[in-house]
Amino acid sequence: MAENMDMMIWSSLPVPAILIDADERIADLNPAGEGFLNNSAKWLQGQPVWDRLAVDAPLEESLKRAREHGTPLFVNDVDVGTGARPPLVCNLQIAPVMGRDGWMVMLISPRELAGRMTQSHSVKSAAKSAIGMAEMLAHEIKNPLAGITGAAQLLSMNLPQEDLELTDLIVAETRRIVKLLEQVEQFGNLSAPDRREVNIHDVLDRARRSALLGFGAHMKIIEDYDPSLPMAWGDPDQLLQVVLNLVKNASEAADSINGGTITLHTYYEHSFRLRRADGSGQTLPLQIEIIDDGPGLPEAIKGDIFDPFVSGKENGTGLGLALVSKIISDHDGWISVESVPGRTVFRMSLPRAPRAKKESN
Ligand SMILES: Nc1ncnc2c1ncn2[C@@H]1O[C@H](COP(=O)(O)OP(=O)(O)O)[C@@H](O)[C@H]1O
Ligand SMILES: [Mg+2]
Repeated sequence: MAENMDMMIWSSLPVPAILIDADERIADLNPAGEGFLNNSAKWLQGQPVWDRLAVDAPLEESLKRAREHGTPLFVNDVDVGTGARPPLVCNLQIAPVMGRDGWMVMLISPRELAGRMTQSHSVKSAAKSAIGMAEMLAHEIKNPLAGITGAAQLLSMNLPQEDLELTDLIVAETRRIVKLLEQVEQFGNLSAPDRREVNIHDVLDRARRSALLGFGAHMKIIEDYDPSLPMAWGDPDQLLQVVLNLVKNASEAADSINGGTITLHTYYEHSFRLRRADGSGQTLPLQIEIIDDGPGLPEAIKGDIFDPFVSGKENGTGLGLALVSKIISDHDGWISVESVPGRTVFRMSLPRAPRAKKESN
């Protein structure tokens, strides 16, 4: 049973994987590896690995160290040739096989990045290109990650109970990265808003309830609504995402034990007009404020918080506010922030829904 599982995972790994024995000979390779080396495992088994694989990097020293210390080795952007075809730029991940002295498993991830990068055209802003780059990376990294997870699970099958912690760690951390990558990809997949009449208070309510059940359970959330607020013109799902991101940031800024207070404030301001660069103007009379009493924006990043990948948190992605700003601008709206310690206000200004034609009903 366990052996079948081994085989299954080994064969499913989407990246070339080679098992190397203590004498640096090929002990086995998976189907992707056979494809990469253009030869069958049967034929390759027992052959010195560095005869079949030309790696343009001084690997010996670091490989020896990895062997001795039982630590994994990551080598990025090396040319890997196979004799059968021109070298490819690859990332290598080499890990000791636990329970087999001196054995290593090597994953080879070819990078097709270079070709794709030259194709991207007319990138408008630095932010856009940073996001585009991240999307590509996200896409490229997900494959080898699947390989790493698979390899870790494979390794874990031969491990004594007390060492499982290590492979569990690999699997858990890999999952975390995959989640981050998915966030980056989600950013790229964002479609144009599907706009209709939206009751902003419904959106705020949904955000409040889901926050209190999860990431905002330690917070007090106060509703301070203008009941006569007219309908907004927006995409309810995207606006929910915006409010969730803002409430999440406020919850994360607050003391995790004592919590804090978030106020959801709405009001109408007829005179709020936005003049755009092209000279056109639009009124954005619906004001939605997310106010918290936390420590305020960190000085160092205050001016850049809406840029992608700007984060003041150790594990932050810096994508939350970038997404907020993109969605709001897709809605022809406006977002601003004022922050001092003890009071941070994110204010969105949105257009109201076009007045329903009275005569039609
Ligand atoms: N309500 C807030 N109070 C204090 N700092 C905030 C608040 N909202 C955002 N920030 C700061 O702005 C940074 C960027 O936020 P965001 O784009 O959502 O990325 P992330 O939350 O992943 O760090 C945060 O890391 C935090 O330092
Ligand atoms: Mg955030």
